Amino acid sequence: MGGVPLSEGRGGRRVNPGPPRRARLEGAGGALAVALTMGLAGCSGSHSILAPAGPAARDVAWLWWGMLIGFGLVFLAVVGLWLAAFRPRDRAEPGPGQERRLGLGWILGGGILLPGVSILVLLAFGVPTGQRLLPLPLPGGEAPRVIEVTGHQWWWEVRYPDEAGEVVTANHLVMPAGEPVDFHVIGADVIHAFWVPRLGGKIDMIPGRINRIRLEADAPGVFGAQCAEYCGVQHAHMQLHLEAVPPEDFEAWLAARRGPPPAPADEHALARDTFTEQCASCHRVAGLSQGDVGPDLTDIGARATLGAGTLAMEKGAIARWLAEHQRLKPGNRMPAHDHLAPEALEALGAWLETLRP
Ligand code: CUA
Repeated sequence: MGGVPLSEGRGGRRVNPGPPRRARLEGAGGALAVALTMGLAGCSGSHSILAPAGPAARDVAWLWWGMLIGFGLVFLAVVGLWLAAFRPRDRAEPGPGQERRLGLGWILGGGILLPGVSILVLLAFGVPTGQRLLPLPLPGGEAPRVIEVTGHQWWWEVRYPDEAGEVVTANHLVMPAGEPVDFHVIGADVIHAFWVPRLGGKIDMIPGRINRIRLEADAPGVFGAQCAEYCGVQHAHMQLHLEAVPPEDFEAWLAARRGPPPAPADEHALARDTFTEQCASCHRVAGLSQGDVGPDLTDIGARATLGAGTLAMEKGAIARWLAEHQRLKPGNRMPAHDHLAPEALEALGAWLETLRP
């Protein structure tokens, strides 16, 4: 016999006992800790529902924890019963009548009572949470600010309707912190979904129908948002950069975008001509063009990303995007610009970078 210790099994057979019980338990504990650490590593960051930054998101997070704990207990109970079913029984086999009563008890208890109670508890938490996400009239009667968001394949159009003049931007949403904001969302082509995980639940953006959701950020900050409904090949590259700023900064941000566009420097005259010839029919730049097929570019130089999260905005990034956008985000709706000289694209990018109110 080798070095593996053997012990006396049931019925006199000699079996290999494997590692001692304590070592097995420690091994299982270690594996659980690794799995938990890996799982919980995804619980922080700009897209985490477990790092709520507003009242609606807090409700959702509490509901999530309640469901995890509640249904974790149900799962453990079911596993416990399952294991108990394998235990050898000392008692005599039940008679047919007793077996029938036992079966009925399991069906009523495990099949109706347990799911019924679980679902009722879930509804008791879930319905008020859903209610609080609805844009119902505020107690004071005051209507929150409205921001309109339209989902396109694959970018976000953001409109700030205002009596003083509408402001339009794309893939970059700025909102006031510390007050509720009603988002009116719609899809332009297919169904998308508007989701700012740290601020609240998601809502579908359906063509031909305006959906509403109320979100609030407790404090200024930058939050990730992502299209949450598969909408085509570039669904993953449909990210929205959302910034909550103090209300007075928000008003200043809006006012800067309502003012007349800055006078262009002479050095960019050629780039503006290229834009007017090549881009103006699809893109709007305030004071220059009215295209409404692609994103409004009036403040593109002030945005955090290009291509709805495809590239970080930095010096030279727009020129790179113009030259390589079909490689960086294949299938996006902007045609390739291979017929333009690289210098023309660079000049165009350099001018667009100056568009920052
Ligand atoms: Cu838009 Cu997915």
